[in-house]
Amino acid sequence: MTLYGDGRAAIQDDAEMAGRLKWATRRRSRPEPKIVLVPREGDPRREPWVCPPRIDPAAGVEAFRRGARRKHWSYLSGVPGVPRYLARLAVPPDPRGVRVGLAGVGRVGGTAAAVLTATPVERSGIRELLIYDVDGANLERWQHELGSIAGFRSGVELPRVRPTALNQVFHQCDVFVFAATVDVPALGTREDVRMVQFAPNRAILRSCLAQARAADFAGLFLVVSDPVDWLCLAAFLDSQADAAGGFSGAGLAPERIAGIGLGVMWGRALMAARREGFENEVAGAGAAFGPHGKDVLVFDDLRHPSPVRSELLSHAAREGNMIVRHLGFLPYVAPAVSSVALALPRLLAGEEVLSSTFVRGLWFGGPSRYDFGVHPSPHPMAAEVETQLAALHARLARQSVATLGPDPKSPF
Ligand SMILES: NC(=O)c1ccc[n+]([C@@H]2O[C@H](COP(=O)([O-])OP(=O)(O)OC[C@H]3O[C@@H](n4cnc5c(N)ncnc54)[C@H](O)[C@@H]3O)[C@@H](O)[C@H]2O)c1
Repeated sequence: MTLYGDGRAAIQDDAEMAGRLKWATRRRSRPEPKIVLVPREGDPRREPWVCPPRIDPAAGVEAFRRGARRKHWSYLSGVPGVPRYLARLAVPPDPRGVRVGLAGVGRVGGTAAAVLTATPVERSGIRELLIYDVDGANLERWQHELGSIAGFRSGVELPRVRPTALNQVFHQCDVFVFAATVDVPALGTREDVRMVQFAPNRAILRSCLAQARAADFAGLFLVVSDPVDWLCLAAFLDSQADAAGGFSGAGLAPERIAGIGLGVMWGRALMAARREGFENEVAGAGAAFGPHGKDVLVFDDLRHPSPVRSELLSHAAREGNMIVRHLGFLPYVAPAVSSVALALPRLLAGEEVLSSTFVRGLWFGGPSRYDFGVHPSPHPMAAEVETQLAALHARLARQSVATLGPDPKSPF
């Protein structure tokens, strides 16, 4: 057995990858590596590229029920984008915290940024917030607003806020958050207010992906904008386009893309449970799955789901945004706080959150954890819960063809 690489990660018995990474045979004087990686064969359109031992890379939605216990980490050999991520994995996390780049400082982005700026670095793990918006006056406004957040002699370190430019942000940040939109549909819109944003937001996203490629970005890529889950898929596929429109495998690793939109769905479901008098049971035993959209599924209890309660919670999660809209306001405070500002620090700390992760070629929401990539985290669940998740995944896979159009890069 030969190990390559002198850092906290080492690869085992893959001289070719070691050569690409310029990792020499590990010196005997070095301590045991924290992470040992072995090569794996698989479809880069359906499997995580770099995978921790607790994840079965070939699992579908069953990853929400059962984990794996492999001896080592693994990576897809022969995928051109993988070495960039292995090199990043070998670098220990910066103890001072991460730098978060935020594109789109609007209602959602601005509110989330305000909460994150008021959260001590010690708690959030975020030492710097780099903000970017296409609207220069708006960017300047938020620079002043966020820059003026401070406590008197609190002795508490808050994140630094700096404006940045699109061609700079991917060189400067560890985590990129996409919260830009061309336009949120006005009050009274009859269409699906999320899906209607897909084409215009995908176009903005493409301009970000071009900059990510130019910067050889290996950080985490988080999507807040709607439709969250479809934009995650678009970010993955669009980042892979080669000159002929085929799948290059040189773009973003799928497990390094996650959607953060399920937090507010959960908040809306819990609010309904509170009203009905069973919040505590749901908070301890329930969970939300699927997209930040009308197909979201909420269960009151994963082991012993009540169809009546689960339907009530799912309905509340689906319709919560419309209640605020019918009152004459655009909903953005709970989304910014629950989906982003409360979720991001926990996600970065490796704690369990609700986010949309890569599951067999699609982005699918559920309990998840960050472990270099964002992956489903398993919970015991009743057979009928898993059956519903599998049916939803299959439906979304079919829908992906209609949503994205024919795409030679898509696995569906
Ligand atoms: N994930 C969630 O939980 C959740 C919940 C509610 C809404 N949303 C979505 O979040 C997105 C943002 O909503 P909002 O209410 O903040 O919108 P907004 O219109 O208030 O803000 C969007 C911001 O994006 C900026 N922008 C536009 N084009 C840009 C570009 N090319 N580069 C950088 N910035 C650009 C605009 O100048 C604006 O400041 C929408 O897609 C909305 O549907 C997500």
